[in-house]
Amino acid sequence: MGTGAYLPERVLTNKELEQIIATSDEWIMERTGIRERRIAAPEEDIATMGAAASLQALENAGIEADRLSYIILSTNSSPYLYPAAAIRVQDALGVNGKMAAFDLQAGCCGFNYALYVAERMVAPEGKYALVIGSDTNSRWSDWTDRSTCILFGDGAGAAVIGPSEQGRLKESFIASSLNMKLYCETEFNREVSPFLPHQTQTQRHYIYMDGPEIFKFAVTAVKESLRRIMEIANISREDLDYLIIHQANWRILDAGARFAKVPIEKVIVNVDRYGNTSAASVPIALHEALMEGKIKKGDKVLLISFGAGATWGAALVEW
Ligand code: ACO
Repeated sequence: MGTGAYLPERVLTNKELEQIIATSDEWIMERTGIRERRIAAPEEDIATMGAAASLQALENAGIEADRLSYIILSTNSSPYLYPAAAIRVQDALGVNGKMAAFDLQAGCCGFNYALYVAERMVAPEGKYALVIGSDTNSRWSDWTDRSTCILFGDGAGAAVIGPSEQGRLKESFIASSLNMKLYCETEFNREVSPFLPHQTQTQRHYIYMDGPEIFKFAVTAVKESLRRIMEIANISREDLDYLIIHQANWRILDAGARFAKVPIEKVIVNVDRYGNTSAASVPIALHEALMEGKIKKGDKVLLISFGAGATWGAALVEW
């Protein structure tokens, strides 16, 4: 019904990264297509960014926050184990106690997962849900590891879903399979717990990724998602007007377009400006495509994402 996005003001260019790690703008552009990414300010986090994107989504949907029945926020970078960031968004929207709000974690496929869950919760009863993807990857990146820190960025995207005269979510699926080639381990109380081996110096807990392995997984996940959605929705490649693929790497988007046999112009691309914003990447790209007037009434838009877990999934939306 309506979408919104929030990107922090601070832009981190490849040129600036050249001052921090042994890399070059040319290397990053050639391997990833990323030119710059956004970094959240110290006072910002997944909830503040999620709330900003949500306000825009509610305004574009033309509904008040108190009409929502659910707020579902997908993230991989919560600063708190609890409370859920979704409840902090609920508070920021001034609707405490009026609906259920919870977080959901599914790697960079989080928005697809949240959309899948929300649709099944609201559709039978004609209710409304706010679905958010928000991540501060910069807080979990190892800024000494040139093979990962160049890839990620911060941001949030949101969408309101509910009964609408125009458009619908036609088909969707989500899937997972354990893959430890991409993970981020959290810190816990090893210093004080009597039940764990004592450890004064905690390990570094940053994003770990085997880039080439994840690259292969990502390309396969895009192909498999496309094949499966075409099968369950009984549509052909030619029926698709736009592909919104998780913005991890330009080469993955390019491979997706070639496999789908759709012109690259039909693949929404903003990875050059924001890098990989994890759960936020699909709703940010969707919002931008709508604001730029690319997606029009009746268009068939395919949202595909893949991520740590491993997780993958797709949703076919008729706008
Ligand atoms: N600058 C310069 N050189 C670098 C950099 C850098 N930033 N990073 C790595 N290198 C070097 C390596 O050290 C290596 O050097 P060596 O040959 O001397 O050992 C060389 O470049 C090649 O390294 P590879 O890792 O093999 O490079 P590759 O071509 O695979 O590109 C990349 C690396 C960009 C990370 C690629 O593997 C990739 O895109 N993987 C997928 C990443 C991704 O999209 N992840 C997220 C998807 S899932 C999700 O979103 C959760």
